[in-house]
Amino acid sequence: MVNYKDLGLVNTRAMFAKAVKGGYAIPAYNFNNMEQLQAIIQACVETESPLILQVSKGAREYANQTLLRYMAQGATEYAKEIQKDGKLIPICLHLDHGPDFATCKSCVDYGFSSVMIDGSKLPFDENCEQTAKVVEYAHKFDVTVEGELGVLAGKEDDVEAAKHIYTQPEEVEEFVKRTGVDSLAIAIGTSHGAYKFKPGTDPKIRLDILHEIEKRIPGFPIVLHGSSSVPQDLVKIINENGGKLKDAIGIGEDQLREAAKSAVCKINIDSDGRLAMTAAVRKVFHDKPEEFDPRKYLGPAREALKQLYMRKNREVLGSAGHAFDC
Ligand code: G3H
Ligand code: 13P
Ligand code: ZN
Repeated sequence: MVNYKDLGLVNTRAMFAKAVKGGYAIPAYNFNNMEQLQAIIQACVETESPLILQVSKGAREYANQTLLRYMAQGATEYAKEIQKDGKLIPICLHLDHGPDFATCKSCVDYGFSSVMIDGSKLPFDENCEQTAKVVEYAHKFDVTVEGELGVLAGKEDDVEAAKHIYTQPEEVEEFVKRTGVDSLAIAIGTSHGAYKFKPGTDPKIRLDILHEIEKRIPGFPIVLHGSSSVPQDLVKIINENGGKLKDAIGIGEDQLREAAKSAVCKINIDSDGRLAMTAAVRKVFHDKPEEFDPRKYLGPAREALKQLYMRKNREVLGSAGHAFDC
């Protein structure tokens, strides 16, 4: 059993309160390996942004939960080391899409400062019960909890959801009250992966549903999953260098910026980072076929990821410069 406070991590409570008040969103970036972790920390330290480091169930299986925990601890020390004045930006270690109580408990016990319990595909009452059980356990250790209402289209939790089931605004008050969650992920037309909209359709998210939800739970922290924008310049580099990404479409940055100004205080981004790294790796392989030192292609991939996330913090989420807000 290890408590996140001993690892230099923080939970999401103060972060979210400041983000809601300040009209910006905290970046929630997924990581699975050292280069991603380095790029994320560097980007957030350089832009002075608070940070939620996310680990999915798949990441725990890929990288090993013990290694990931020590990497997160190392991340707080690394962040201090590269910060000019040695001041530590707030860093939260969050379980992304926790599938059940056992996984959430294991993360709480392993030093996570925040967990998501994703009961979004369960009937409402079962979602409430499962979420409340996780909250009861997590809060004993001051670990914050994210719940979800509504289902995102695309791949969620290893299950293909055929279409969006938007969050029903009339359910949110009861869910928040019955579960005691600290934040709520909602489904308003975002989805996971790089194919969020069919070509020829209007790539819009339902900001009207977001505003209706905000009216019912004023100031309550809202989370958006599936918020990659699928930058077309990256898709082009990938396709010009041997890739095959056809009709990849994401969420417009203008819509995310608008959402970030509201009670949306956590925006999840993973696919854009994957695209940035893949574009950089493909380019090295194409331009320098003689290269076989992993540092020579993972290094450029890490730099591309850092540049992308610095721009997101500054221009999309608005979190840059808010690390040390009081
Ligand atoms: O929600 C999905 C995240 O992008 C994590 O994806 O389950 O492939 O690690 P993953
Ligand atoms: P993207 O696939 O749009 O990056 O979403 C990531 C996410 O929601 C992680 O939980
Ligand atoms: Zn997600």
